Amino acid sequence: MDVLEAIRSRRSHRLFKNMPVEQEKIDKILDAAHWAPSPANTQPWEFVVVRGADARKRLYEFSEEAKKSGRIEVRGFSYIRPLPENISEESEEAERLALEHYSLSFLKNVPLIIAVVGLPLTSVKSAGFQETRNSYKYSCGAVIQNMLLTAESLGLGSLWFTLFDQKLVRQFLMIDRAKHLVAMVLVGYAAIPPPSPGRLPLKLKVTWVD
Ligand SMILES: Cc1cc2nc3c(=O)[nH]c(=O)nc-3n(C[C@H](O)[C@H](O)[C@H](O)COP(=O)(O)O)c2cc1C
Repeated sequence: MDVLEAIRSRRSHRLFKNMPVEQEKIDKILDAAHWAPSPANTQPWEFVVVRGADARKRLYEFSEEAKKSGRIEVRGFSYIRPLPENISEESEEAERLALEHYSLSFLKNVPLIIAVVGLPLTSVKSAGFQETRNSYKYSCGAVIQNMLLTAESLGLGSLWFTLFDQKLVRQFLMIDRAKHLVAMVLVGYAAIPPPSPGRLPLKLKVTWVD
């Protein structure tokens, strides 16, 4: 599959078939992840590959807990709006209700979860690079997109998942405190292709300077 085709056809999947992902495909996804760009080639990432059903069930339970308590890292779900800076009590309540109705059951069915772990200590301290503290996050973003596109090109569905409790999951996966669990990438054979959520008109996003 051509890269442009993979970019356009990739969707966030939340329904998976009960079918394992072949080792050869897992290796390809990890290899593509590792070829992501990073400042001065620091490669500030590591991976934890979770395949066991018991471990996946624990991750589901931790995520349910995070959902209930609202202790979550990033909001990026299709049904949930990002929280504004100065949130009123009513809209906070609306967010809480939306989150309550958001099902996480796909976590129990997905055959493969790859935790993407960022290494903040390898971030480059260069005079020209302002955002040194965050550079590992940008690199991990590139890593994750490589994974999603590779999964797509291999006929697999995937999801960039962040609704988890950082501390609980980190402890469970035995990830050092100095490292940051940036996301979990869910991969499996898609049960039903999700509809495209679409995008805003591109012209709203682009300024041309001639
Ligand atoms: C940083 C980030 C965090 C996300 N976290 C979640 C998540 O926790 N749960 C979820 O269902 N989708 C999550 N998503 C997926 C988005 O909801 C999805 O990309 C968006 O709705 C657009 O849909 P599409 O990927 O099918 O184009 C996340 C995406 C990003 C980039």
